[in-house]
Amino acid sequence: MPDRPSRVVRNTATSVVTIERFIIEQEELHPGASGALSGILYDLALAAKMIANKVRSAGLADVLGSAGEENVQGEVQQKLDLIANETIVKALDHGGRLCGMASEEVDELIPIPPEFRTGRYFLLFDPLDGSSNIDVNVPVGTIFSILPQKTAGDRATLEDALQPGRDQVAAGYVIYGSSTMLVYSTGSGVHGFTLDPLLGEFLLSHPDIRIPEHGRYLSVNESYEQHWDAPVRDLVRRYRGLDGKRDAMNVRYVGSMVADFHRNLLGGGVFAYPANAKAPSGKLRLLYECNPLAFICEQAGGAATDGTRRILDIVPTRLHERTPIYVGSKADVDMASEMLAAQ
Ligand code: AHG
Ligand code: MN
Ligand code: MN
Repeated sequence: MPDRPSRVVRNTATSVVTIERFIIEQEELHPGASGALSGILYDLALAAKMIANKVRSAGLADVLGSAGEENVQGEVQQKLDLIANETIVKALDHGGRLCGMASEEVDELIPIPPEFRTGRYFLLFDPLDGSSNIDVNVPVGTIFSILPQKTAGDRATLEDALQPGRDQVAAGYVIYGSSTMLVYSTGSGVHGFTLDPLLGEFLLSHPDIRIPEHGRYLSVNESYEQHWDAPVRDLVRRYRGLDGKRDAMNVRYVGSMVADFHRNLLGGGVFAYPANAKAPSGKLRLLYECNPLAFICEQAGGAATDGTRRILDIVPTRLHERTPIYVGSKADVDMASEMLAAQ
């Protein structure tokens, strides 16, 4: 009996594509490209592999638990947060492609040391997302966002960081789950790579990811319901099918935004972190979490709003500012915009 044709037509030995080769091929689509952006992505993939190793061995090495210091958000930093932060800085600071960096874990801009050359891009990142989940072996992630330098000097100023998300030239995330995946976009679709732990290579596994128009999953922390205002409560009731106006979505909430977002990107659905009376701007950070994931989601055919504005159109005023967010399948996010605009 002949083999059934495989749905994945590139599933042959000859079409194995490493992330390095894919990045180069993408760059060739832009004849004027300097190669700097490709170099940054390459360095981020290396940092991701190093962090993946640390996360994998977290249960064995003495890196579990908190470092005892509070980060700028007033949250206790987990040790792996600091290691991941340092890993990214050290992988990226000397390449001559960045004018500066900013991290969720660091109060001020991270300058490029004076002994290194600089470049025309600015990198923002959440080194370890979902870090409170590390101790219980739940997936965590890394999120990154790349902006063009806006100012003219060779070192970045705050103005370079405070650009709206629509100006990102690339964004991505790494999920340290049952396998490690890196998903990124440079504005030409969204592509996912799975780390082959034996080869130590990210291999193209999810080319051109598209998020379903309607979602199966709803990811929201319902323990805040008592602090939500009425329109948010009505919206979540609608998503859950409780008002009889749509089919109920399946509630899934990991508590690591990367993991919740990744599942919904592949399976369809919406991730929501609304404002509530105790957190009037929600919890998630515009620059390190919301902008990069909104960029990826839009590139995959989805949408992201804070309830009234497109996330990517928000002009930031502070490095660590927070925003409510509804991100995911277009139809489900549009439902949020409609119901919350009516408030
Ligand atoms: P981080 O670990 O980078 O501080 O991010 C944690 C975030 C995010 O990953 C997750 O979606 C959210 O916190 C969960 O918050 P709640 O526990 O309030 O639901
Ligand atoms: Mn985070
Ligand atoms: Mn974090």
